[in-house]
Amino acid sequence: MKQTIDVFSTAIAFQEEEVQGRTVVVIDVLRACSTIVTALENGAKSIIPIEDMGTGGQIAMNLDPTSYLMCGERDGVKIEGYQLGNSPLEYPSDVVKGKTLILNTTNGTRAIAKCSQAKSVIIGCFLNLKAVVKELKSSNNDFILICAGWKNRISLEDMLCAGAIIDGVTNGKLGLQSTDGAKVAFGLFEKYGHDIPEVVETSNHSMRLQKLNDGADIAYCTQINKINRTPVFTDGIIT
Ligand code: MLT
Repeated sequence: MKQTIDVFSTAIAFQEEEVQGRTVVVIDVLRACSTIVTALENGAKSIIPIEDMGTGGQIAMNLDPTSYLMCGERDGVKIEGYQLGNSPLEYPSDVVKGKTLILNTTNGTRAIAKCSQAKSVIIGCFLNLKAVVKELKSSNNDFILICAGWKNRISLEDMLCAGAIIDGVTNGKLGLQSTDGAKVAFGLFEKYGHDIPEVVETSNHSMRLQKLNDGADIAYCTQINKINRTPVFTDGIIT
């Protein structure tokens, strides 16, 4: 069976009903999805993606204080009073092993939370590219790639990752009958996919992050297939 693939360019480019009952992959390369994949790989028990600090506080009130960490950023910077920001490098196993992470980010966790009505939600980025492609191919379902973007605007790195996923699932042969979104993402990958780290380094969000740290996060998040894991978001929790 041929799979129908669609792509939404930002978290506001879709309505919740549009993903109802569908298979979706949420992509936020810089950095929410890269952080989630890394934290779970390093032994975090689960991650609760939230959209605002009030919700985070309410969830935390019902948990054993030793069992969770408050994590997240606004405009890339760690939220005041939280234990961790949104750099995947802040999530080694001695920090996150066995912990529930309550994660609040500018765009990524909002996009994930908005997909609660989907049939299945996979967390995708370059780090787990091959694992995501394998999962999508074996399920054989139609799917939607949701790029988190940045404050309602396209992010090059998310669209490029969507294109890389399409390239993998279609074995590099996307038909002309495919959706506009899939063609745009695939075309971007065809143009820039040969040197992902170098191209992502020129993206708007990389520029913002360069000012925050020395580019270490960008180098980390543009590694391809470092982690063989496909986190899923079910009933409000990513495992
Ligand atoms: C987001 O959710 O917008 C990002 O992950 C922002 C960031 O780089 O921290």
